[in-house]
Amino acid sequence: MNEYLKHDEWCVIEEGFNPENHRSSESIFSLGNGNMGQRAMFEEHYSGKTLQGTYVAGVYYPDKTRVGWWKNGYPEYFAKVLNAPTWIGIDVKINGEMLDLAKCETSDFVRTLNMKEGVLERTFIASMSNGNKLKVETKRFLSIVDTEVGMIRYSVTPLNFDGKIKFIPYIDADVMNSDSNYDEKFWDILVSKSLSGEAYITAKTKKLDFHVCMGMKYDVYKDGQKLEMNPALTEDAKYVSNTVEFEVEQDEELAIYKYAGVLSSLNHSKSEILNDAHKVVASAYEKGYGKLLEEHVARWADKWSHSDIVIEGDVAAQQAIRFNIFQLNQTYTGEDERLNIGPKGFTGEKYGGSTYWDTEAYCVPFYLSTSKPEVTRNLLIYRHKHLQRAIENAAKLGFTDGAALYPMVTMNGEECHNEWEITFEEIHRNGAIAFAIYNYVRHTGDQKYLEEYGLDVLIGITRFWSQRVTYSQAKKKYVMLGVTGPNEYENNVNNNWYTSTLATWCMKYTQEAMAFVKESNTNRFNEIMSDLNFDFNQETAKWNDIIENMYYPIDEETGVFLQQEGYMDKEQILAVDLDPKIRPINQHWSWDRILRSCFIKQADVLQGVYLFEDKFDLETIQKNYDFYEPRTLHESSLSPCIHSILASKIGDIERAYNLYLRTSRLDLDDYNKEVHEGLHITSMAGTWMSIVEGFGGMRVVNGKLSLNPLIPKEWKSYSFKVRFRGNLLNVRVSEEGVGVINEEGENITLFLQDDEYKIEKSSSLVIENA
Ligand code: BGC
Repeated sequence: MNEYLKHDEWCVIEEGFNPENHRSSESIFSLGNGNMGQRAMFEEHYSGKTLQGTYVAGVYYPDKTRVGWWKNGYPEYFAKVLNAPTWIGIDVKINGEMLDLAKCETSDFVRTLNMKEGVLERTFIASMSNGNKLKVETKRFLSIVDTEVGMIRYSVTPLNFDGKIKFIPYIDADVMNSDSNYDEKFWDILVSKSLSGEAYITAKTKKLDFHVCMGMKYDVYKDGQKLEMNPALTEDAKYVSNTVEFEVEQDEELAIYKYAGVLSSLNHSKSEILNDAHKVVASAYEKGYGKLLEEHVARWADKWSHSDIVIEGDVAAQQAIRFNIFQLNQTYTGEDERLNIGPKGFTGEKYGGSTYWDTEAYCVPFYLSTSKPEVTRNLLIYRHKHLQRAIENAAKLGFTDGAALYPMVTMNGEECHNEWEITFEEIHRNGAIAFAIYNYVRHTGDQKYLEEYGLDVLIGITRFWSQRVTYSQAKKKYVMLGVTGPNEYENNVNNNWYTSTLATWCMKYTQEAMAFVKESNTNRFNEIMSDLNFDFNQETAKWNDIIENMYYPIDEETGVFLQQEGYMDKEQILAVDLDPKIRPINQHWSWDRILRSCFIKQADVLQGVYLFEDKFDLETIQKNYDFYEPRTLHESSLSPCIHSILASKIGDIERAYNLYLRTSRLDLDDYNKEVHEGLHITSMAGTWMSIVEGFGGMRVVNGKLSLNPLIPKEWKSYSFKVRFRGNLLNVRVSEEGVGVINEEGENITLFLQDDEYKIEKSSSLVIENA
């Protein structure tokens, strides 16, 4: 852990500059607006350790696969989120000396991420080796209204000198990915153009032909007075800048306002992208800094008005949940069905920025409750559009007749993960996609989705499962051989309980969905059956046989669901017995040692218990929780939230609270010692789940919302909002009781602590504790 950030309800604050923490802070203070994002690099030159990261949504690079030993079925490339040309740069020279925090003394350094307003700020005093002392103040945001616009205000005030200050605003396209497999650069530059007061670069990816155009325009003010400029222009092949120099007296503030436009060929024609960039930059410039900021802050206020969670009495917990919600809302805004949510969002390169099962298993519940249904629907349609590729992917692995295996990692529907134990075996991702459809339909009531897009995806997935099982003559049961469950500290196991349970659930749900569509729209049903060449009697008979005869490993003695066959042969030691110095074990142990140990990276059986909780009694949930929690190391960010929800379920509120802190402050306090690589964006949705589904006990029961709230003793109260079908509900839980306000929509009937209540529109319900 590394706890260097100050606790505050609305801001993340770093006081004092420690270069050792800089890369971590670059991740934590990242900004995004759904359309683009960037790590919190400094605007001015910095020669210390930094991970440059400027990202444009949907723009990626298929980097040629690099593996030790090629295996049939491996993909040709790994899709990488692409480090794009950077537009934030403003070099600053003070009487000829370059301002560089790695080379000068810094005091009063404060970096602040204002999450309420979506603004990154920094102030510090620099003492340069030429003896000049100056105060620097910066403010930066990526407009969430004009999502192609970024804005910086950067000011310098001499504290002990009169002299010359140079600003060199620039765009630099000489960038590369630090994870480039063959140390290649991925961009060709098409245009670099420097004009007086503005500059542009258009770059094109070496493969796939994505074009990106970055433009900038700027003004300089002295003590609020706009200055005339006569810039020196630089127009290199990959770099464009303007240099402006001013005489400044002690205590006068020199401020540059830099407006940037970031456009991609996803949204602009390649032939017009440069012209369009001129227009975007010009219109941002015309709007001006004040107006851009005002609109941006207002839109954030609107976002917070239906996604905020307020916790009274615990600043660390409050800051953490806001940080998680803020980062999710910066990463994905849901308007564009071509986009998805990479595990690191716009905050780093790891994981390739592509789509994982994380989206369906973790992000979908968050967006379902905090946004309009279209947002989740777009996430589902993304997978629908990739169905054909999932069928081709399965065909490559030998599956037939429309069986679909969705990729473990993807940008465009093609698999790009290349570790055999994951690519070929971590197939539970298929089930998460089916479950997300179920979740969407039960939460929104949009059953029509099944007719339009859902059913063919479900059938493809179920066809895959029905071919992936093997009938074991020895067991007289169907078995699922050679899989990797969610717990990636086990590979190539037989009969992973979670995967098998999910597979048969898919088979049942697909049949329910088929029955529904047949009933509601017979023509459409017949059309789907014929398009998919579906042999109803034969295929469903096989599915039902598998459902009835599936093998699930169980420990005879305790009745615990076994993670996989043979799990009990392992030496049964507990996480508390491990020396903290060797954690995380994946940074200290050989892989075979990890595989032979009983230690669990992330929720696996408990992931299944969480998904299918309504099928188990409390005793079963408790038994499995008590067995698996002490063996789980939570070395995947996706883990503590699920354990926290189950701890709440069984009433172990103390544990639920500690796991909540772990999940919510995972990045802020760097539990897994890897925040410098980027943030764990997808698991942040799990943090939200651990409050709303965990402490709040929110479920959907028979098509109705159900709440069973508890409150950790550390909190005075907490409140959250939930969109459910046509309603927006505001739920407040305190030691005294629970209040629910029906803020939007018609009358609603819901369950509160298992009793049914009706709340009229615009009214509220208060239940006081006995
Ligand atoms: C986890 C996976 C997850 C991936 C991306 C891995 O460490 O084990 O379950 O999909 O990270 O978040």
